[in-house]
Amino acid sequence: MKAFLILTAITAIAWLAFSPSGKTAAPSDLEGLKAEVDRLKGIVPDQSHAMKDVAYHYSNLWFAGEAENWPLAEFYFNESRSHLRWAVRIIPVRKTPDGQELRLEDLLTGFENGALKELGDAVKSQDLEKFRTGYQQMLGSCYACHVAAGKPYLRLKIPDRPEVPIIDFSPQL
Ligand code: HEC
Repeated sequence: MKAFLILTAITAIAWLAFSPSGKTAAPSDLEGLKAEVDRLKGIVPDQSHAMKDVAYHYSNLWFAGEAENWPLAEFYFNESRSHLRWAVRIIPVRKTPDGQELRLEDLLTGFENGALKELGDAVKSQDLEKFRTGYQQMLGSCYACHVAAGKPYLRLKIPDRPEVPIIDFSPQL
């Protein structure tokens, strides 16, 4: 029922905007819409902000894994992945310093089927050794994207402390 109502509303709007009688949305409405889109664009967090979130979750993931607190590791793994997706949605295609177009979306899809998947499998199978290798490998993929994006100075390393002091990383007994 709800879906039907939404569909009806969309059809009505589409009809008003593009009806064959020549009725189009008034230019002032379009200008208002454009101004609103610009305003919304201005308040969306930038890609660097989303990456800071990725770094936060990914750093905590290391400590959850090292503590063999696998449910917590799974949580931080999922958060890292969804924030990576979010970061890439903010700017899906970037211009590199030499003027090429870099499709971040495609790069991320590649990692999701490669290093990120292996890391996720290690967390699921609660295998510490596999986790350590998988974490390093994904860190390499993170950095590969920074290099491709023309930011080789964004080097990454295994973190030496968690990003959040208030979470207890020890496994629940
Ligand atoms: C698909 C490409 C891509 C992947 C994968 C990627 N990054 Fe990034 N990262 C970027 C780009 C592009 C920037 C620069 C953003 C900007 O300047 O707006 C960035 C910036 C950063 C920053 C700097 C943020 C700041 O402002 O201080 C950190 C930290 C970071 N990434 C961590 C990571 C980690 C950790 C991973 C892997 C878990 C990762 N990134 C994976 C593209 C990527």
